[in-house]
Amino acid sequence: MDIGLFIPIGNNGWLISENAPQYKPSFEMNKKLVQTAEGYGFDFALSMIKLRGFGGKTEFWDYNLESFTLMSALAAVTSKIKLFASTAILTLPPAMVARMAVTIDSVAPGRFGVNIVTGWAKGEYEQMGVWPGDAYFGYRYDYAGEYVKVMKELWADGKSDHKGAHFQMEDCHMLPKPEGKIEIVGAGQSAKGMEFVSNYGDYNFITAGGINQPTQHRAQVETLVEAGKKTGRDVGAYILCMVIADETDEAAKAKWESYRAGADVDALAWMSDQGSADKTAGADSTARHINLPEGAVNLNIGTFVGSYETVAKLLDEAAAIPGTKGIMLTFDDFEKGLVAFGEKVQPLMACRAERLVAA
Ligand SMILES: Cc1cc2nc3c(=O)[nH]c(=O)nc-3n(C[C@H](O)[C@H](O)[C@H](O)COP(=O)(O)O)c2cc1C
Repeated sequence: MDIGLFIPIGNNGWLISENAPQYKPSFEMNKKLVQTAEGYGFDFALSMIKLRGFGGKTEFWDYNLESFTLMSALAAVTSKIKLFASTAILTLPPAMVARMAVTIDSVAPGRFGVNIVTGWAKGEYEQMGVWPGDAYFGYRYDYAGEYVKVMKELWADGKSDHKGAHFQMEDCHMLPKPEGKIEIVGAGQSAKGMEFVSNYGDYNFITAGGINQPTQHRAQVETLVEAGKKTGRDVGAYILCMVIADETDEAAKAKWESYRAGADVDALAWMSDQGSADKTAGADSTARHINLPEGAVNLNIGTFVGSYETVAKLLDEAAAIPGTKGIMLTFDDFEKGLVAFGEKVQPLMACRAERLVAA
């Protein structure tokens, strides 16, 4: 079972609360976290791309670094851990991202991959004049498919002549070729998002929501596995979880209740408003589940709250769902949470035992 870290590239991580730790993102902080994670044998780290915050009293995500440039710097100060950067595909042409990825692959050969972000918050793109109109909600995964096709042609052949509905290459050249395989991952929750990854990607991130519900992602993993059967590609599910752990269940629950009590309602209102713009969204898409009222303070990321023992057990249960190949973690308090995970939770996890022995 792979373990990854969803690094805090934006302020305050993934808790929209005045009572959660308040901090701004920096290279130094993320360097320390990724090096610590590498020391605990983490397999990968991923940074998202967010281009507009939600505001409110906590100025949630108003401070965000850029994903590729941050990962390039982290590539230079790590040696084993895999790194994924995210591209917001409306903002960067695929031939440019292919070249950026090859550059990071030359810093960290075989350790770099790309997360494809179609986008669910149109305000991020409208503000910079690159929103193509609301029809995009309906064709974004076709657009993403062509985008990845162009990148893969450039990496494999050093050139592309792709002519599609969204991208036209004219004898486009790009060398050098990458030294290692550049993996493609997606994080769509809709059936279309899973279909996209089953055609073009290696892994899909799934976030199922709920508090201490370790089997909640079962149906989504099944959708992904079914989509993979249709394309004949073995696409793995990585699940995203937030960990809020402490010495006892009670102490961890008290922290969670405090985060909920401090919810930044103005920032949550902005998020909810963005989620309602996609009129094509099905019940399974991010636009629909992002604004569910219960626990939106954690962006409805599936969250495990409890003692170190409780959390280890929940993570093992989550890992046991067939098709699950990895877990990506966020923490309420990243520095303390990561160290507690490495020292006290991971050693109790049956699904990590083999890896830890190997390491
Ligand atoms: C692990 C993970 C990483 C994500 N990274 C980003 C990101 O970097 N930027 C972003 O706008 N959305 C991000 N998302 C949201 C997905 O990309 C989102 O599901 C997608 O844009 C909407 O597709 P859907 O309707 O198929 O769910 C992420 C989601 C998950 C679970």
